[in-house]
Amino acid sequence: MTTSSQATNSPSLAFVGGGNMATSIIGGLLQSGRAAEFIRVSDPSEERRQLLAKEYGIECSDDNKAVVKTANIVVLAVKPQMMRVVLEDLSLLLQQKKPLVISIAAGIRTKDALRWIGADLPFIRVMPNTPALVNLGASGLYANQLSNETHKVQTAEIMRSVSEVIWLETEQLIDSVTGVSGSGPAYFFRLMELMIEEAESNGLSTKDAQSLVLQTALGAASLAMQSAHSAGELRRQVTSPNGTTQAGLEFMEKHHIKETIRGGVKAAILRSVELSDQLGEE
Ligand SMILES: NC(=O)c1ccc[n+]([C@@H]2O[C@H](COP(=O)([O-])OP(=O)(O)OC[C@H]3O[C@@H](n4cnc5c(N)ncnc54)[C@H](OP(=O)(O)O)[C@@H]3O)[C@@H](O)[C@H]2O)c1
Repeated sequence: MTTSSQATNSPSLAFVGGGNMATSIIGGLLQSGRAAEFIRVSDPSEERRQLLAKEYGIECSDDNKAVVKTANIVVLAVKPQMMRVVLEDLSLLLQQKKPLVISIAAGIRTKDALRWIGADLPFIRVMPNTPALVNLGASGLYANQLSNETHKVQTAEIMRSVSEVIWLETEQLIDSVTGVSGSGPAYFFRLMELMIEEAESNGLSTKDAQSLVLQTALGAASLAMQSAHSAGELRRQVTSPNGTTQAGLEFMEKHHIKETIRGGVKAAILRSVELSDQLGEE
């Protein structure tokens, strides 16, 4: 049941696009106590709408304008390639209603989104990552000049339901976040894949190899998060002179792990800039 204070304090949210990321954020919001009646979603897919309605009790529509019309906060969760057509279609309504607009789309810059809308609005860009699907995401957030403290608090509350929230001073840093934590899960998956392959080559069953590698990844991340020491310090602590870890790390260093990983992250950041340039072309 909704209390009157909830009704006054809860802004009404419209998700434009009800795909994977929107669904995970909605799941997180409901888990953290937000009432379903304050959330509406538009999506062209009947199947998606049914899933959101059945699973979460969310009111859904195939009409973007119908959901945006009643919202204080609009969350743009369509694919980047769809953004221009979606925003141009919503422009008049957004110009009239002036909601807070939150975009989770990769590669869509604030100036391009606002140009398509045709108005200056409070606009917050969020770069989440896929572990948000299990409420363990990491998101970088950038708020434009028109966003006030309330907008920032509201956006942080939404994203905190599925991820860590890191505020960025400049929009450029969104590209760095994209190359680090946006693409980051895939780097760790690749590392896991390779360790599992080598474990199998050395006699472990696939099941055991997976358990050992995944639990090690989780354990290392948890230890690093709980420890006061840096990752480098923790690495030094587990590397005994002439021991097995030292042998493994020396081989990796000799074979350019530093250049490979740092170069890979840099390549992803540069690609993010390039894609944003392309998506924002006039
Ligand atoms: N997944 C991630 O890890 C991740 C990370 C960072 C950022 N993001 C960003 O999050 C956004 C959503 O990604 P996602 O993975 O959730 O994609 P997704 O699952 O494909 O969700 C997009 C949804 O939008 C719907 N849609 C298509 N055209 C629409 C329209 N005109 N109006 C309203 N809805 C429309 C799609 O329906 P149809 O499928 O029927 O076309 C789909 O259900 C993207 O911009 C992406 O860059 C995602």
